[in-house]
Amino acid sequence: MSLATLASAAVLFASSFRLAGAVAAQTFEPPSKGPLVQTANYTSFSNNTLHTKNVVKGKVFNRIIQVWLENTDFETAASTPIFESLASQGLLFTNYHSVTHPSEPNYVAALGGDFFGMHDDNMYHIPSNISTIVDLLEDKKISWATYQENMPEDGYYGFTYTATNYGNSSAAPYTYYVRKHNPSIVYDSISQDADRVKNIRTFNDFANDVVNGTLPQWIFVTPNMVNDAHDTTIDFAASFLEYWFLPLLTDPRVNDEDTLILLTFDENETDTIQNTIWSLALGGALPLNLRGTTDDALYTHFSSLSTVQANWGLGSLGRQDTNATVSNVFSFVAEKTGYQNVKVPANEVPLFNLTNVVPGALTSNAFIPFAAPNLKAKGAGHGPVFLRSGLDKKLTVESLPPPVNKTALNSTTPWQMSPTTTSGEHLIPCAGAACP
Ligand SMILES: *[C@@H]1O[C@H](CO)[C@@H](O)[C@H](O)[C@H]1NC(C)=O
Ligand SMILES: *[C@@H]1O[C@H](CO)[C@@H](O)[C@H](O)[C@H]1NC(C)=O
Ligand SMILES: *[C@@H]1O[C@H](CO)[C@@H](O)[C@H](O)[C@H]1NC(C)=O
Ligand SMILES: *[C@@H]1O[C@H](CO)[C@@H](O)[C@H](O)[C@H]1NC(C)=O
Ligand SMILES: *[C@@H]1O[C@H](CO)[C@@H](O)[C@H](O)[C@H]1NC(C)=O
Ligand SMILES: *[C@@H]1O[C@H](CO)[C@@H](O)[C@H](O)[C@H]1NC(C)=O
Ligand SMILES: *[C@@H]1O[C@H](CO)[C@@H](O)[C@H](O)[C@H]1NC(C)=O
Ligand SMILES: *[C@@H]1O[C@H](CO)[C@@H](O)[C@H](O)[C@H]1NC(C)=O
Ligand SMILES: *[C@@H]1O[C@H](CO)[C@@H](O)[C@H](O)[C@H]1NC(C)=O
Ligand SMILES: *[C@@H]1O[C@H](CO)[C@@H](O)[C@H](O)[C@H]1NC(C)=O
Repeated sequence: MSLATLASAAVLFASSFRLAGAVAAQTFEPPSKGPLVQTANYTSFSNNTLHTKNVVKGKVFNRIIQVWLENTDFETAASTPIFESLASQGLLFTNYHSVTHPSEPNYVAALGGDFFGMHDDNMYHIPSNISTIVDLLEDKKISWATYQENMPEDGYYGFTYTATNYGNSSAAPYTYYVRKHNPSIVYDSISQDADRVKNIRTFNDFANDVVNGTLPQWIFVTPNMVNDAHDTTIDFAASFLEYWFLPLLTDPRVNDEDTLILLTFDENETDTIQNTIWSLALGGALPLNLRGTTDDALYTHFSSLSTVQANWGLGSLGRQDTNATVSNVFSFVAEKTGYQNVKVPANEVPLFNLTNVVPGALTSNAFIPFAAPNLKAKGAGHGPVFLRSGLDKKLTVESLPPPVNKTALNSTTPWQMSPTTTSGEHLIPCAGAACP
């Protein structure tokens, strides 16, 4: 019996023991014969629509792959065997924070440098004048894609997708895909663009793109609702990593000497404590002397933006990606690119477990319109602040009116939820019969 098999046997035993007498535990079942084999369990097959060829050289890495798991406290991941063994091959960040609760605002922040006050997992549409990392990458012709497990087709716009339960054929269909974990679809600047939407891809596309040599340079991966630990346990996610992630680590088509991989979580499980998450840098681009070590600098999901900006000398978004306190560049990238990180003393680490207190266009409790980025911001890549068309540059954060509590106003002014249009406004005034 291999170590890996022993580990999963132990996992199976532990989870059936824990849940004895309760609802039958879900046990990991591989959705395909392997991570690079397309499967009907993922609904539709790849169209082979990416034609990535060009490689833009970065200062430390030529490819970055982020894989996001769900809702796990640092200690829980750190004490799970597969995560422990991965940590021995990588650089473990021990002071890495998600930026709020719940899920969706964290995913949104990792692409756009802000969560715009969002404090729930609703159906949002961020207007097309709001920039993301995609604008910065495309500006330098760097290829990119996001891969969402069990998303049924490229650029699928629905809120959820429910498919045959591949883990148990006698169980009811299962909601494996959720929009709240797919930030690229939430930004209109990506999902409403006919070319860009093709880069919001399925897991069958992932297999296709690896095998056909068209895997891009900036990659964001969201496993499905069981494999990312959201509906299951860290042991279940560990079995998924054993099936999907470990083989890719040793496959030069995915992980070569110029590849950086970030294995992370969206948020910490316990809201009442700080939001520290287990995050690991690994891959061929990680310097050998850092493997099996730890790094206690303060990082957040905004650091994944600033690190990419520093690596390729990109522009910035002029939002929290340029707020030095919360956007330290991964140390080994900061060193090679000459970026000066800030040391934040432990007692000055901002609270990242707060929710529903930050003003923004996506909260009714402290509403302010979408503002223009800070044009004077200096990002880690030294490039200019990116401005999308349709942006009112005069609408700066400073010029905005004070936040309005539309929830409180609701008693006197009738408001309704915005219909599912591409408007960024979450609540809009209503009149007469239009009111809910
Ligand atoms: C779907 O997943 C199940 C569970 O692992 C597996 O038995 C089946 O072979 C998969 N189907 C395909 C087409 O790979
Ligand atoms: C969540 O964050 C806290 C505070 O930073 C950290 O101490 C802890 O490891 C994480 N949660 C748990 C229970 O491990
Ligand atoms: C392939 O293209 C067709 C037609 O454009 C589309 O309906 C389908 O969703 C695509 N498949 C995938 C996996 O996206
Ligand atoms: C499969 O699903 C059925 C129906 O929900 C359930 O009774 C059974 O226990 C499940 N099997 C396993 C192995 O979980
Ligand atoms: C590679 O692309 C071809 C089409 O050009 C496609 O038929 C094949 O299935 C792809 N390979 C994989 C593993 O997806
Ligand atoms: C956030 O974490 C801090 C530090 O552990 C704790 O004192 C505070 O109550 C938490 N806040 C919330 C809203 O849970
Ligand atoms: C930068 O981040 C800190 C910590 O979250 C916050 O207090 C501060 O307001 C932010 N600065 C700006 C300009 O957003
Ligand atoms: C961005 O677009 C939204 C929706 O059209 C609009 O409400 C907002 O004022 C715009 N913001 C800026 C800074 O142009
Ligand atoms: C506003 O009031 C209506 C009618 O009472 C209610 O249905 C709706 O949920 C309220 N909206 C908010 C944001 O509280
Ligand atoms: C907004 O108003 C609601 C209802 O009066 C209240 O519960 C909530 O605390 C207010 N939020 C803020 C941020 O002031």
